[in-house]
Amino acid sequence: MLDLIILSLHFFICFLISIAIWCGPKDMESHTSSTGGAETEPDGLIFIGKEEDIKKSQRITAKINGREIVVFYHEGKFNALDSRCYHEGGPLCHGEIEDINGQACIVCPWHKFRITLETGEGLYEGINPLEPTPTPKWQSKGVKQRIHKVTIDNGNVYVSPPDLSVSFDSDYFADKYKNGGELAMGKQSHSEAAE
Ligand code: FES
Repeated sequence: MLDLIILSLHFFICFLISIAIWCGPKDMESHTSSTGGAETEPDGLIFIGKEEDIKKSQRITAKINGREIVVFYHEGKFNALDSRCYHEGGPLCHGEIEDINGQACIVCPWHKFRITLETGEGLYEGINPLEPTPTPKWQSKGVKQRIHKVTIDNGNVYVSPPDLSVSFDSDYFADKYKNGGELAMGKQSHSEAAE
């Protein structure tokens, strides 16, 4: 009888151990998927897509650690920014690109704020009281939108992970839409986004 009890206990313990082993990798898997599918290279760069594909689509969205970003290809240059506008979170991935004084700017589709692709500066038209002019001129409000460093290597496009020790106005909306929101999306081309 005692033998039977010991044998049953042995099987029960083996059963508990196998459940524990089975649960381990599953937890790791769900942690990895929280990156939204972005692949991180050993050097820390985050793979966004193939250079040729982005050149064709002209823009692509991606999620890096849950953060929505958009990479534009415009006039031979790649630029990456937070996808949510620093003003009220408008989807910059759906905006038109406009040239203002030789600077490529994304025009937010919600309230038409202009943001330079290269530096993330918010621009506004106004008169500088220190240098008054008869008509308003484009002025900078400073860097409002977080930009992301783009690296092209061997036909692949990568962005660097954001340096969160420095903050920008767009961080508020990047966090707000991190875990869902109507624009929650994986990698998507402009044409797909417009559908
Ligand atoms: S949300 Fe972009 S201009 Fe208002």
